[in-house]
Amino acid sequence: MGRLDTKNTKALVAFKEANKSFGATKALINCNISFKLGCIHSLVGENGAGKSTLGKLILGAHTLDSGQMYVDGDEVAISSPVQSVNLGLVGISQELSLLASRSVTDNIVMGREKNFGPFVSDKVNRETALDVMEKYDIFLEPDAIVGTLSVAEQQKVEILRALNSEARLIVFDEPTARLASHEAEKLHLLVRTLAENGAAIVYISHFLEEVLKISDEISLLRNGELIRTNKSSYETKNSLIEGMTGKEQGTLYPKKLAVKRFEDPILKVENLTRKGEFKDISFELYKGEILGLAGLVGSGRSELAHTIYGDTMPDSGDITFCEEKLTSYDVATSIKMGMALVPESRRSQGLILSRPLLENISLPHLKKFASLFGVNKSKERQEVILKCEQTKVKYRSIEDEAEYLSGGNQQKLLFTRAAMGKPKLLIADEPTRGVDIGAKRAIYELISKRSEVGESVLLISSEIEEIIGISNRVLVMSRGSISAELRGSEITKKAIMEAAFREGNQ
Ligand SMILES: Nc1ncnc2c1ncn2[C@@H]1O[C@H](COP(=O)(O)OP(=O)(O)O)[C@@H](O)[C@H]1O
Ligand SMILES: [Mg+2]
Repeated sequence: MGRLDTKNTKALVAFKEANKSFGATKALINCNISFKLGCIHSLVGENGAGKSTLGKLILGAHTLDSGQMYVDGDEVAISSPVQSVNLGLVGISQELSLLASRSVTDNIVMGREKNFGPFVSDKVNRETALDVMEKYDIFLEPDAIVGTLSVAEQQKVEILRALNSEARLIVFDEPTARLASHEAEKLHLLVRTLAENGAAIVYISHFLEEVLKISDEISLLRNGELIRTNKSSYETKNSLIEGMTGKEQGTLYPKKLAVKRFEDPILKVENLTRKGEFKDISFELYKGEILGLAGLVGSGRSELAHTIYGDTMPDSGDITFCEEKLTSYDVATSIKMGMALVPESRRSQGLILSRPLLENISLPHLKKFASLFGVNKSKERQEVILKCEQTKVKYRSIEDEAEYLSGGNQQKLLFTRAAMGKPKLLIADEPTRGVDIGAKRAIYELISKRSEVGESVLLISSEIEEIIGISNRVLVMSRGSISAELRGSEITKKAIMEAAFREGNQ
C-alpha cells in the first residue's frame, strides 16, 4: 500500500480521489481532502452534499468504492468501525447511536472496555466513566438510564464515549442541531479545547455562523464534490451560501478575495492625531485588501482619509506607505508614491463638469503621455478610451463635457481617473452616494477589480450594507477614534452599529 507524502502537513487523515456511491447516487466524487491534528475542519454543504458520507468513511461506517484513505500518511483499508476506533478515529453521529435501556456508564465504556473477561466489574467501568467526565468537565449521573435523559444529555453520553478512547480525530455530525443555544456554546468550548489538546476535529454543521466562529478550515461540498477548502477567515456567510448553492446570492457584491496578510502592509498608520478631527489612529492595510472605514458622519473618517492622502497635516503620529515614512504631506507626492483618491463630493472635489471627459480623466496623468513634442494626443486618447471600456463608463464621445453623464457614470469616471495612475492604494470616499443600483454594482466591481490586481482599497462609507458587502476587514470610527476592528464573520450590521455609537475614549 502506498504512502502519502505528508512532509509539509500534519495530516492525520487524508483522502485521495475518494469515491462513494449509493446505487445511482454519487455521494462523494473524486474527493481530495485532509484533516490535520489540532485543527477544527468544518464541512458545509446543502442537504445531501456528502458531508455525512465523508464522516462515515473516516469512522469506518462506509467503505470507499475507489480512491485512497491515509492515516498518518499510510494508506489504510478500513471496513469496520472497530478499525477506525483502533486508529483513534471516533465520532458523534447525526443519529445518536446509544443503547437506551442501558446506563450512562455502560454506554460510555461500550466497545471501549480496557480489560475484558470476568474481571470487568461495574465498579471499574464506573470509575472509567467518572474519569472521563472529570477530565472533560462534562458531568452526568453514571447510573442513569440513557433512555430517560434529555437529548442534550444523551449527546453528552455520545461525546464522553468518543472521548473515552485515545481519540485523535473526532467527527461531530450536526452536533448542535438539537441543542439549546447555551448548550451549543458549551459544545463549542469543548470542541476548541479538544483541538487545542491536539485532536483533529471534523465538524459538520449547517449553522454557518457557528462554523465561521469555531473553524480553522472550512471545506465546501456540493452534490458530492469538494468545491474548495479555505481558511475560515477567508470565508463569510455569503461566500459559503454562494458556494453551497452554486448561485450568486448577493449579486450586488462581487466575491471577496483572500488577502495575504503575511506580506508587509502597504500602509501603516501609527498613533495619527489631528486635533478636533481624529485621535491616536493606528492600523495597517495589506496588499489587495479592501478595508472598510465605517462610522457616523462626523466621526472623523473623511478627515483621516484626507490626511493619509496628504491633503492635511497630522499633529502627531506617522504614516508609512510602501515602506516609506511620509515626511511632507502634499497630494502631489502622495500620487507620485502611488495613492489615488475618489473624493466624497463629485462636484466640489472631483470633476470639472464643464470640461471634456478626456481632460477629466487624463489631466493628473499628462506626464504619462509626454513626448518631445508635447503631449502625445493619440496615445492619450487611446488609453482613456481603453480605460473607460474597462470601467464601463457609458458616454457618447470623450470630447463631451462631464456634466452630460449620469451621476453613476460620473462616479465611474473618477475611478477611471484613479485607475489610470495604477495606484497601490485607492481611497474611495462614499463612492456610491447618490447613484443607482446598476452603477453601484459596477462600482463594487471596480473596487473588487482593484483589489484583484493587488491594489489596496480604503473604503469610507456610511452605507453599512456596502461596507459589509465588500470589505475584507472593517474599522469602525466613533468620535475620532477607532472603536472596533472587525473581520470575517464579525462584520455584521449589529457589530458596526454598536461600535459606531460607542463613546470614544477621549
Ligand atoms: N446509506 C445510504 N443509502 C443510500 N443513499 C445514501 C446513503 N447515505 C447517503 N446517501 C445519499 O448520498 C448523498 C449524500 O448524503 P449525505 O452524505 O448524508 O449528505 P449530507 O450529510 O451532506 O446531508 C445523498 O443523496 C443521500 O441521499
Ligand atoms: Mg448529513
